[in-house]
Amino acid sequence: MSIKASSMDSTARVLRFGMVGGGQGAFIGDVHRKGATLDALAALTAGCFSRNFENTLATGALWGVESDRLYRTYEEMAQKEAAREDGIDFAVIVTPNNTHYPAAKAFLEQGIHVVCDKPLALTSKQGEELKALAEQKGLLFCVTYTYVGYPMVRQMREMIQNGDIGAIRVVTGRYIQGWLATELECDGQKQASWRCDPAQSGISNATGDIGTHLENLISYATGLKIQSLCANLRPVGGNRKLDNEAEILVRYEGGATGMMWASQVAIGHDNDLRIMVCGEKGTIEWEQENPNYLRVDMLGEPTRTLSRGNGYFYPVVNAMNRIPAGHVEGHFTAFGNVYKAFCVALTNHMAGKEASDLYYPGLDAGIEGNRFVEKCVESTERGVVWVDF
Ligand SMILES: NC(=O)c1ccc[n+]([C@@H]2O[C@H](COP(=O)([O-])OP(=O)(O)OC[C@H]3O[C@@H](n4cnc5c(N)ncnc54)[C@H](O)[C@@H]3O)[C@@H](O)[C@H]2O)c1
Repeated sequence: MSIKASSMDSTARVLRFGMVGGGQGAFIGDVHRKGATLDALAALTAGCFSRNFENTLATGALWGVESDRLYRTYEEMAQKEAAREDGIDFAVIVTPNNTHYPAAKAFLEQGIHVVCDKPLALTSKQGEELKALAEQKGLLFCVTYTYVGYPMVRQMREMIQNGDIGAIRVVTGRYIQGWLATELECDGQKQASWRCDPAQSGISNATGDIGTHLENLISYATGLKIQSLCANLRPVGGNRKLDNEAEILVRYEGGATGMMWASQVAIGHDNDLRIMVCGEKGTIEWEQENPNYLRVDMLGEPTRTLSRGNGYFYPVVNAMNRIPAGHVEGHFTAFGNVYKAFCVALTNHMAGKEASDLYYPGLDAGIEGNRFVEKCVESTERGVVWVDF
Protein backbone atom coordinates (compact mmCIF):
# COMPACT_ATOMS: atom_id res chain seq x y z
CA MET A 1 0.00 0.00 0.00
CA SER A 2 3.06 2.21 -0.35
CA ILE A 3 4.27 3.93 -3.47
CA LYS A 4 7.07 6.18 -4.61
CA ALA A 5 5.62 9.32 -6.20
CA SER A 6 8.79 9.82 -8.21
CA SER A 7 8.42 6.36 -9.75
CA MET A 8 5.19 7.24 -11.58
CA ASP A 9 5.26 7.10 -15.35
CA SER A 10 5.14 10.79 -16.37
CA THR A 11 3.49 9.93 -19.70
CA ALA A 12 0.56 8.16 -17.99
CA ARG A 13 -2.89 9.42 -18.87
CA VAL A 14 -5.25 11.21 -16.49
CA LEU A 15 -7.40 8.64 -14.66
CA ARG A 16 -11.20 8.76 -15.05
CA PHE A 17 -13.44 8.44 -12.03
CA GLY A 18 -17.15 8.39 -11.29
CA MET A 19 -18.85 9.41 -8.06
CA VAL A 20 -21.76 7.88 -6.16
CA GLY A 21 -23.28 10.46 -3.78
CA GLY A 22 -22.11 14.04 -3.41
CA GLY A 23 -25.21 15.62 -5.00
CA GLN A 24 -26.13 19.21 -4.26
CA GLY A 25 -26.73 19.61 -0.52
CA ALA A 26 -24.27 16.84 0.41
CA PHE A 27 -21.14 17.41 2.47
CA ILE A 28 -18.11 15.29 1.65
CA GLY A 29 -18.59 14.52 -2.06
CA ASP A 30 -17.42 17.95 -3.15
CA VAL A 31 -14.37 17.68 -0.87
CA HIS A 32 -13.51 14.38 -2.57
CA ARG A 33 -13.94 15.96 -6.00
CA LYS A 34 -11.52 18.73 -5.09
CA GLY A 35 -9.04 16.39 -3.39
CA ALA A 36 -9.09 13.85 -6.22
CA THR A 37 -8.35 16.48 -8.87
CA LEU A 38 -5.82 18.55 -6.91
CA ASP A 39 -2.81 17.09 -8.76
CA ALA A 40 -4.53 16.65 -12.13
CA LEU A 41 -3.99 12.89 -11.85
CA ALA A 42 -7.73 12.17 -12.19
CA ALA A 43 -10.85 13.78 -13.67
CA LEU A 44 -14.51 13.42 -12.73
CA THR A 45 -16.13 11.73 -15.73
CA ALA A 46 -19.34 10.08 -14.53
CA GLY A 47 -21.79 10.26 -11.67
CA CYS A 48 -24.83 9.01 -9.83
CA PHE A 49 -24.70 11.87 -7.36
CA SER A 50 -28.09 11.28 -5.74
CA ARG A 51 -31.05 8.92 -5.66
CA ASN A 52 -32.93 11.89 -7.11
CA PHE A 53 -32.03 12.00 -10.83
CA GLU A 54 -32.88 15.71 -11.11
CA ASN A 55 -30.21 16.36 -8.49
CA THR A 56 -27.73 14.15 -10.37
CA LEU A 57 -28.42 16.10 -13.58
CA ALA A 58 -28.02 19.47 -11.82
CA THR A 59 -24.84 18.39 -10.02
CA GLY A 60 -23.39 16.92 -13.22
CA ALA A 61 -24.08 20.16 -15.11
CA LEU A 62 -22.40 22.19 -12.36
CA TRP A 63 -19.34 19.94 -12.33
CA GLY A 64 -19.02 19.60 -16.10
CA VAL A 65 -19.87 15.92 -16.46
CA GLU A 66 -21.25 14.89 -19.87
CA SER A 67 -24.99 14.17 -19.63
CA ASP A 68 -24.62 10.65 -21.11
CA ARG A 69 -22.37 9.74 -18.16
CA LEU A 70 -25.02 10.66 -15.56
CA TYR A 71 -26.93 7.68 -14.17
CA ARG A 72 -30.10 6.96 -12.20
CA THR A 73 -28.54 4.18 -10.09
CA TYR A 74 -25.01 3.09 -9.18
CA GLU A 75 -25.79 -0.36 -10.62
CA GLU A 76 -26.51 1.24 -14.02
CA MET A 77 -23.34 3.31 -13.71
CA ALA A 78 -21.19 0.26 -12.92
CA GLN A 79 -22.58 -1.75 -15.85
CA LYS A 80 -22.51 1.02 -18.46
CA GLU A 81 -19.12 2.40 -17.48
CA ALA A 82 -17.60 -1.11 -17.52
CA ALA A 83 -18.94 -1.59 -21.05
CA ARG A 84 -17.34 1.61 -22.41
CA GLU A 85 -13.86 1.67 -23.87
CA ASP A 86 -13.29 4.99 -22.15
CA GLY A 87 -15.09 3.88 -18.96
CA ILE A 88 -14.10 5.06 -15.50
CA ASP A 89 -10.97 3.62 -13.90
CA PHE A 90 -12.30 3.98 -10.37
CA ALA A 91 -15.52 4.75 -8.51
CA VAL A 92 -15.72 7.06 -5.49
CA ILE A 93 -18.45 6.16 -2.97
CA VAL A 94 -19.57 9.01 -0.72
CA THR A 95 -23.06 7.97 0.30
CA PRO A 96 -24.40 7.25 3.81
CA ASN A 97 -22.83 4.14 5.40
CA ASN A 98 -25.48 1.58 4.41
CA THR A 99 -24.78 2.04 0.69
CA HIS A 100 -20.99 1.58 0.89
CA TYR A 101 -20.99 -2.22 0.74
CA PRO A 102 -23.55 -2.78 -2.06
CA ALA A 103 -22.14 0.04 -4.19
CA ALA A 104 -18.50 -1.05 -3.71
CA LYS A 105 -19.50 -4.62 -4.57
CA ALA A 106 -21.30 -3.49 -7.74
CA PHE A 107 -18.16 -1.73 -9.04
CA LEU A 108 -15.73 -4.48 -8.02
CA GLU A 109 -17.90 -7.06 -9.77
CA GLN A 110 -17.61 -5.00 -12.96
CA GLY A 111 -13.81 -4.85 -12.63
CA ILE A 112 -13.69 -1.21 -11.49
CA HIS A 113 -11.30 -0.04 -8.74
CA VAL A 114 -12.92 1.65 -5.71
CA VAL A 115 -12.39 4.56 -3.34
CA CYS A 116 -14.91 4.44 -0.48
CA ASP A 117 -15.41 6.67 2.50
CA LYS A 118 -15.40 5.34 6.06
CA PRO A 119 -16.79 3.38 7.79
CA LEU A 120 -16.06 0.84 5.06
CA ALA A 121 -19.27 -1.17 5.50
CA LEU A 122 -21.96 -1.92 8.10
CA THR A 123 -20.07 -4.97 9.43
CA SER A 124 -16.52 -6.32 9.34
CA LYS A 125 -17.94 -9.42 7.60
CA GLN A 126 -19.07 -7.23 4.69
CA GLY A 127 -15.60 -5.69 4.68
CA GLU A 128 -14.00 -9.14 4.48
CA GLU A 129 -16.25 -9.97 1.52
CA LEU A 130 -15.13 -6.83 -0.28
CA LYS A 131 -11.50 -7.73 0.42
CA ALA A 132 -11.94 -11.24 -1.00
CA LEU A 133 -13.65 -9.84 -4.10
CA ALA A 134 -11.02 -7.13 -4.68
CA GLU A 135 -8.23 -9.71 -4.34
CA GLN A 136 -9.95 -12.16 -6.65
CA LYS A 137 -10.37 -9.45 -9.30
CA GLY A 138 -6.94 -7.86 -8.75
CA LEU A 139 -8.46 -4.45 -7.96
CA LEU A 140 -7.23 -1.60 -5.73
CA PHE A 141 -9.39 -0.25 -2.93
CA CYS A 142 -8.85 2.92 -0.90
CA VAL A 143 -10.76 3.80 2.29
CA THR A 144 -10.57 7.58 2.79
CA TYR A 145 -9.38 8.01 6.34
CA THR A 146 -8.56 11.66 5.73
CA TYR A 147 -6.16 12.31 8.57
CA VAL A 148 -3.36 10.08 7.26
CA GLY A 149 -3.04 12.72 4.51
CA TYR A 150 -1.62 15.38 6.85
CA PRO A 151 2.18 15.81 6.65
CA MET A 152 2.48 16.28 10.43
CA VAL A 153 0.73 12.96 11.04
CA ARG A 154 3.23 11.30 8.73
CA GLN A 155 6.06 13.01 10.65
CA MET A 156 4.61 11.62 13.88
CA ARG A 157 4.59 8.14 12.37
CA GLU A 158 8.17 8.47 11.08
CA MET A 159 9.44 9.73 14.46
CA ILE A 160 7.78 6.86 16.31
CA GLN A 161 8.97 4.23 13.83
CA ASN A 162 12.51 5.61 14.06
CA GLY A 163 12.43 5.32 17.86
CA ASP A 164 12.72 9.09 18.46
CA ILE A 165 10.42 8.97 21.52
CA GLY A 166 11.25 5.39 22.53
CA ALA A 167 8.74 2.70 23.38
CA ILE A 168 5.19 4.02 23.67
CA ARG A 169 3.65 4.04 27.13
CA VAL A 170 0.34 5.91 26.76
CA VAL A 171 -1.78 7.25 23.88
CA THR A 172 -4.71 9.58 24.30
CA GLY A 173 -7.00 10.80 21.56
CA ARG A 174 -10.20 12.70 21.27
CA TYR A 175 -12.50 13.54 18.41
CA ILE A 176 -15.18 15.80 19.79
CA GLN A 177 -17.83 17.90 18.09
CA GLY A 178 -20.85 19.83 19.38
CA TRP A 179 -23.12 19.81 16.34
CA LEU A 180 -25.54 17.16 17.72
CA ALA A 181 -25.94 18.79 21.13
CA THR A 182 -29.54 19.46 20.02
CA GLU A 183 -31.79 17.08 18.10
CA LEU A 184 -30.89 18.42 14.70
CA GLU A 185 -32.19 15.25 13.05
CA CYS A 186 -35.75 16.14 14.11
CA ASP A 187 -35.49 19.29 11.95
CA GLY A 188 -34.68 17.10 8.94
CA GLN A 189 -31.04 18.22 8.73
CA LYS A 190 -29.64 15.89 6.05
CA GLN A 191 -26.34 14.85 7.63
CA ALA A 192 -27.87 14.46 11.12
CA SER A 193 -30.91 12.51 9.89
CA TRP A 194 -29.08 9.53 8.41
CA ARG A 195 -26.34 9.46 11.05
CA CYS A 196 -28.96 9.05 13.80
CA ASP A 197 -30.86 6.35 11.87
CA PRO A 198 -29.64 2.76 12.54
CA ALA A 199 -30.87 1.63 9.11
CA GLN A 200 -28.49 4.04 7.37
CA SER A 201 -25.73 4.51 9.93
CA GLY A 202 -25.35 0.96 11.26
CA ILE A 203 -24.94 -0.15 14.88
CA SER A 204 -23.24 3.09 15.92
CA ASN A 205 -23.31 6.79 15.14
CA ALA A 206 -20.42 8.66 16.81
CA THR A 207 -18.10 5.67 17.20
CA GLY A 208 -18.55 4.76 13.54
CA ASP A 209 -18.55 8.32 12.25
CA ILE A 210 -15.65 9.88 14.15
CA GLY A 211 -14.40 7.14 16.51
CA THR A 212 -13.17 5.18 13.48
CA HIS A 213 -11.12 8.21 12.39
CA LEU A 214 -9.53 8.30 15.84
CA GLU A 215 -8.85 4.56 15.86
CA ASN A 216 -7.30 4.73 12.38
CA LEU A 217 -5.24 7.84 13.15
CA ILE A 218 -3.75 6.27 16.28
CA SER A 219 -3.13 2.97 14.53
CA TYR A 220 -1.38 4.72 11.61
CA ALA A 221 0.66 7.18 13.68
CA THR A 222 1.81 4.70 16.32
CA GLY A 223 1.70 1.29 14.64
CA LEU A 224 0.08 -0.04 17.84
CA LYS A 225 -2.37 -2.95 17.65
CA ILE A 226 -5.39 -3.04 19.95
CA GLN A 227 -5.38 -6.09 22.23
CA SER A 228 -8.56 -5.36 24.22
CA LEU A 229 -10.89 -2.47 24.91
CA CYS A 230 -13.57 -1.33 27.33
CA ALA A 231 -16.16 1.05 25.89
CA ASN A 232 -19.01 3.14 27.24
CA LEU A 233 -21.20 4.23 24.30
CA ARG A 234 -24.27 6.36 25.01
CA PRO A 235 -27.07 8.03 23.11
CA VAL A 236 -27.46 11.51 24.58
CA GLY A 237 -30.67 13.52 24.15
CA GLY A 238 -34.25 12.76 23.09
CA ASN A 239 -35.17 9.36 21.72
CA ARG A 240 -31.88 8.66 20.05
CA LYS A 241 -31.07 5.00 19.49
CA LEU A 242 -27.41 5.34 18.58
CA ASP A 243 -24.42 6.68 20.52
CA ASN A 244 -23.29 10.24 20.14
CA GLU A 245 -20.92 10.02 23.08
CA ALA A 246 -18.25 7.35 23.64
CA GLU A 247 -15.44 6.84 26.13
CA ILE A 248 -13.07 3.98 25.34
CA LEU A 249 -10.16 2.51 27.31
CA VAL A 250 -7.64 0.51 25.29
CA ARG A 251 -4.86 -1.98 26.02
CA TYR A 252 -2.39 -2.35 23.17
CA GLU A 253 -0.18 -5.30 22.32
CA GLY A 254 3.23 -4.73 23.93
CA GLY A 255 1.87 -3.06 27.08
CA ALA A 256 0.90 0.51 26.09
CA THR A 257 -2.51 1.76 27.16
CA GLY A 258 -4.83 4.39 25.75
CA MET A 259 -7.95 6.50 26.13
CA MET A 260 -10.25 7.63 23.34
CA TRP A 261 -13.15 10.04 23.54
CA ALA A 262 -15.58 10.52 20.65
CA SER A 263 -18.45 12.96 21.12
CA GLN A 264 -20.98 14.91 19.06
CA VAL A 265 -22.42 16.72 22.09
CA ALA A 266 -19.33 18.68 23.22
CA ILE A 267 -20.72 22.19 22.86
CA GLY A 268 -18.14 24.69 21.61
CA HIS A 269 -16.02 22.11 19.79
CA ASP A 270 -16.25 22.11 15.99
CA ASN A 271 -14.00 19.31 14.76
CA ASP A 272 -11.63 18.89 17.68
CA LEU A 273 -9.52 15.87 16.79
CA ARG A 274 -6.20 15.56 18.61
CA ILE A 275 -3.82 12.84 19.72
CA MET A 276 -0.94 12.67 22.19
CA VAL A 277 1.63 9.86 22.24
CA CYS A 278 3.84 9.49 25.31
CA GLY A 279 7.01 7.41 24.92
CA GLU A 280 9.83 6.61 27.31
CA LYS A 281 11.99 9.42 25.81
CA GLY A 282 9.41 12.03 24.81
CA THR A 283 5.86 13.04 23.91
CA ILE A 284 4.35 14.13 20.55
CA GLU A 285 1.01 15.91 20.11
CA TRP A 286 -1.02 16.87 17.02
CA GLU A 287 -4.27 18.83 16.65
CA GLN A 288 -6.40 18.67 13.52
CA GLU A 289 -7.65 22.24 13.95
CA ASN A 290 -4.03 23.48 13.97
CA PRO A 291 -2.60 20.86 11.61
CA ASN A 292 0.58 22.49 10.36
CA TYR A 293 2.36 22.14 13.69
CA LEU A 294 3.59 19.28 15.83
CA ARG A 295 4.44 19.70 19.51
CA VAL A 296 7.42 17.64 20.65
CA ASP A 297 8.63 17.35 24.25
CA MET A 298 11.85 15.40 24.75
CA LEU A 299 12.89 14.41 28.26
CA GLY A 300 14.81 17.25 29.93
CA GLU A 301 14.49 19.63 26.96
CA PRO A 302 12.29 22.65 26.30
CA THR A 303 9.12 22.19 24.24
CA ARG A 304 9.66 22.29 20.47
CA THR A 305 7.06 23.22 17.86
CA LEU A 306 7.77 21.73 14.43
CA SER A 307 6.33 23.81 11.59
CA ARG A 308 5.26 22.13 8.34
CA GLY A 309 7.29 23.01 5.26
CA ASN A 310 10.65 23.52 6.97
CA GLY A 311 13.75 21.51 6.16
CA TYR A 312 14.02 19.39 9.28
CA PHE A 313 11.38 16.76 8.52
CA TYR A 314 11.77 13.20 7.32
CA PRO A 315 11.99 13.29 3.47
CA VAL A 316 8.72 11.45 2.91
CA VAL A 317 6.96 14.17 4.92
CA ASN A 318 8.37 16.96 2.76
CA ALA A 319 7.06 15.13 -0.30
CA MET A 320 3.52 15.72 1.02
CA ASN A 321 3.85 19.53 1.11
CA ARG A 322 2.17 21.69 -1.49
CA ILE A 323 3.09 25.24 -0.41
CA PRO A 324 5.91 26.75 1.69
CA ALA A 325 5.95 26.95 5.49
CA GLY A 326 3.54 29.40 7.09
CA HIS A 327 0.96 29.08 4.29
CA VAL A 328 -1.74 27.05 5.94
CA GLU A 329 -2.62 23.66 4.46
CA GLY A 330 -5.58 21.62 5.65
CA HIS A 331 -8.50 19.37 4.82
CA PHE A 332 -8.48 19.67 1.01
CA THR A 333 -4.76 18.99 0.75
CA ALA A 334 -5.05 16.04 3.15
CA PHE A 335 -7.66 14.54 0.83
CA GLY A 336 -5.35 15.45 -2.05
CA ASN A 337 -2.51 13.48 -0.48
CA VAL A 338 -4.67 10.38 0.01
CA TYR A 339 -5.85 10.63 -3.61
CA LYS A 340 -2.35 11.29 -4.90
CA ALA A 341 -1.12 8.10 -3.22
CA PHE A 342 -4.05 6.13 -4.62
CA CYS A 343 -3.83 7.57 -8.15
CA VAL A 344 -0.08 6.96 -8.40
CA ALA A 345 -0.58 3.41 -7.11
CA LEU A 346 -3.39 2.80 -9.61
CA THR A 347 -1.41 4.27 -12.51
CA ASN A 348 1.54 2.04 -11.61
CA HIS A 349 -0.76 -0.96 -11.11
CA MET A 350 -2.25 -0.46 -14.58
CA ALA A 351 1.27 -0.28 -16.02
CA GLY A 352 2.31 -3.43 -14.12
CA LYS A 353 4.78 -1.44 -12.00
CA GLU A 354 5.51 -1.71 -8.28
CA ALA A 355 5.08 0.98 -5.67
CA SER A 356 6.83 2.54 -2.67
CA ASP A 357 6.45 5.34 -0.13
CA LEU A 358 3.25 7.39 -0.34
CA TYR A 359 0.47 5.82 1.68
CA TYR A 360 -3.27 5.36 1.27
CA PRO A 361 -5.44 3.30 3.64
CA GLY A 362 -6.83 0.11 2.15
CA LEU A 363 -9.32 -2.61 2.98
CA ASP A 364 -7.46 -3.87 6.05
CA ALA A 365 -7.77 -0.41 7.63
CA GLY A 366 -11.47 -0.32 6.71
CA ILE A 367 -12.15 -3.77 8.17
CA GLU A 368 -10.26 -2.81 11.34
CA GLY A 369 -12.56 0.23 11.67
CA ASN A 370 -15.68 -1.91 11.42
CA ARG A 371 -14.26 -4.39 13.94
CA PHE A 372 -13.47 -1.49 16.30
CA VAL A 373 -17.12 -0.37 16.17
CA GLU A 374 -18.37 -3.92 16.74
CA LYS A 375 -16.09 -4.43 19.74
CA CYS A 376 -17.08 -1.08 21.28
CA VAL A 377 -20.78 -1.95 20.93
CA GLU A 378 -20.18 -5.46 22.33
CA SER A 379 -18.30 -4.06 25.34
CA THR A 380 -21.08 -1.55 26.07
CA GLU A 381 -23.89 -4.09 25.69
CA ARG A 382 -22.16 -6.55 28.00
CA GLY A 383 -22.04 -3.89 30.76
CA VAL A 384 -18.93 -1.81 29.85
CA VAL A 385 -16.53 -4.72 30.22
CA TRP A 386 -13.13 -5.49 28.70
CA VAL A 387 -13.40 -7.44 25.43
CA ASP A 388 -10.58 -8.96 23.39
CA PHE A 389 -10.07 -7.31 20.03
N1 LIG B 1 -13.47 11.09 5.43
C1 LIG B 1 -14.08 12.08 6.04
O1 LIG B 1 -13.43 12.94 6.60
C2 LIG B 1 -15.59 12.13 6.03
C3 LIG B 1 -16.23 13.32 6.37
C4 LIG B 1 -17.63 13.36 6.27
C5 LIG B 1 -18.35 12.24 5.90
N2 LIG B 1 -17.67 11.08 5.62
C6 LIG B 1 -18.41 9.87 5.19
O2 LIG B 1 -18.91 10.13 3.88
C7 LIG B 1 -20.18 9.53 3.71
C8 LIG B 1 -21.19 10.62 3.29
O3 LIG B 1 -21.30 11.57 4.33
P1 LIG B 1 -21.91 13.04 4.06
O4 LIG B 1 -21.80 13.78 5.33
O5 LIG B 1 -21.30 13.63 2.85
O6 LIG B 1 -23.42 12.67 3.76
P2 LIG B 1 -24.49 13.54 2.98
O7 LIG B 1 -25.82 13.14 3.48
O8 LIG B 1 -24.11 14.98 3.02
O9 LIG B 1 -24.32 13.06 1.46
C9 LIG B 1 -24.69 11.78 1.02
C10 LIG B 1 -25.02 11.83 -0.46
O10 LIG B 1 -25.26 10.50 -0.94
C11 LIG B 1 -26.41 10.53 -1.78
N3 LIG B 1 -26.97 9.16 -1.87
C12 LIG B 1 -27.55 8.42 -0.90
N4 LIG B 1 -27.87 7.20 -1.38
C13 LIG B 1 -27.50 7.19 -2.68
C14 LIG B 1 -27.57 6.23 -3.71
N5 LIG B 1 -28.10 5.02 -3.51
N6 LIG B 1 -27.09 6.56 -4.93
C15 LIG B 1 -26.53 7.78 -5.16
N7 LIG B 1 -26.42 8.73 -4.22
C16 LIG B 1 -26.91 8.44 -2.99
C17 LIG B 1 -27.32 11.55 -1.14
O11 LIG B 1 -28.30 12.00 -2.02
C18 LIG B 1 -26.28 12.62 -0.80
O12 LIG B 1 -26.00 13.41 -1.95
C19 LIG B 1 -20.53 8.86 5.03
O13 LIG B 1 -20.24 7.49 4.96
C20 LIG B 1 -19.61 9.53 6.05
O14 LIG B 1 -19.25 8.68 7.11
C21 LIG B 1 -16.32 11.02 5.67
